[in-house]
Amino acid sequence: MTIPMARPSTGTAELKQIQAVFKSGWLGEGHVTELFEKALGEFTGARHIVAVNTGTSALHLALHALGAGPGDEVVLPSMTFVSDPQAVLMCGARPVFCDIEENTLNVDPHKIKPLLTPKTRAVMPTDFAGLPCDVRAIRRAIGRSDIKIIRDASHSFGSKIKGKPVGIRAGEDATCFSFDPIKNLTCGEGGAILVKTASAAARLRSQKMLGIIRSTWQSFSKKKVEDRRVVQHGFRYHMSNINAAIGLAQLQQFAAFAEKRQKLAVLYDELLQPLPDITLFKRDYAAVVPFMYIIRVAARERDNLISFLVANGVHAGLRYFPCHLQPFFKHAGAALPVTEQLAQEMLSIPLYHGMRESQVHAVAALIKKFFS
Ligand SMILES: Cc1ncc(COP(=O)(O)O)c(C=O)c1O
Repeated sequence: MTIPMARPSTGTAELKQIQAVFKSGWLGEGHVTELFEKALGEFTGARHIVAVNTGTSALHLALHALGAGPGDEVVLPSMTFVSDPQAVLMCGARPVFCDIEENTLNVDPHKIKPLLTPKTRAVMPTDFAGLPCDVRAIRRAIGRSDIKIIRDASHSFGSKIKGKPVGIRAGEDATCFSFDPIKNLTCGEGGAILVKTASAAARLRSQKMLGIIRSTWQSFSKKKVEDRRVVQHGFRYHMSNINAAIGLAQLQQFAAFAEKRQKLAVLYDELLQPLPDITLFKRDYAAVVPFMYIIRVAARERDNLISFLVANGVHAGLRYFPCHLQPFFKHAGAALPVTEQLAQEMLSIPLYHGMRESQVHAVAALIKKFFS
């Protein structure tokens, strides 16, 4: 038996869309990218969406567009992917790591305030494992309107806030998604930025295309003389038709993907709940589309359990290592007690759309065996 921790769910529907792109003769950013942006808009309820090539570039571009630059500080959780502090550094700004809440695993709004300085330009919370963070509580805790909030929604595509999919309705200045291979929705590689105004979106469109005023596709499809003026500092972050085609096919199947992930997480809850050695992170899976399934076990047992699972063909591990403990960032700030404690106790076990219920039973049975 081998059960991976995560796996993409791509198949014939995605291949069919890619084939259509090949036939069209236009592989780079183009009409399918536009269709994908439109479909994302319909799904999330956002009016202004810019597709890019990775979640990391989405975060970088959002920070850059909202004005983060040299001398600025950005407050963010340490319990996230290293893309977040690296994106801050790409702007020349400084990451300031904040502790998380023990139950939600999201940044603790109450711990943000003491970290704010006149240099704070933005706060960048992550919707960890798929649970949307409370942006309104973060805004209240900040109490300053000059600080921007960028939601890193890389894990929470499809999760709901007050009955509506994560988008840009909760007071964020930008929301960023990642569509890398194992995310709730994948483009192979990809990302997207949701912003509030058409003018912000227009700026992002040129910034993701090296600062050129019109993309090659825009000039070509409108059959105008190409306007290739470079009007600002920009990056090479556009999303190709091929990646957008994968995303488009995935979106059409997303309801089933989400339901399956939710069902598997509920099953894990049921099977693991009775085990006294495990603490569950309880979520309302009617609203949360889980990106990962995480359990909490005593620090003295955690690594032994990982070895036991791996020896039995089940891929399990911590998955997200606190950024402030990474060699490159370890001098960046103060101790974060909750993050550090949880990093010794958290354990991510397999969860992906293609996983079978029998595999969830098998993983749970192994965990039970370990503790008995
Ligand atoms: C929380 C978080 N933010 C950002 C990213 C970056 O996304 P990408 O891999 O698409 O660059 C990831 C990817 O794993 C992530 O988990």
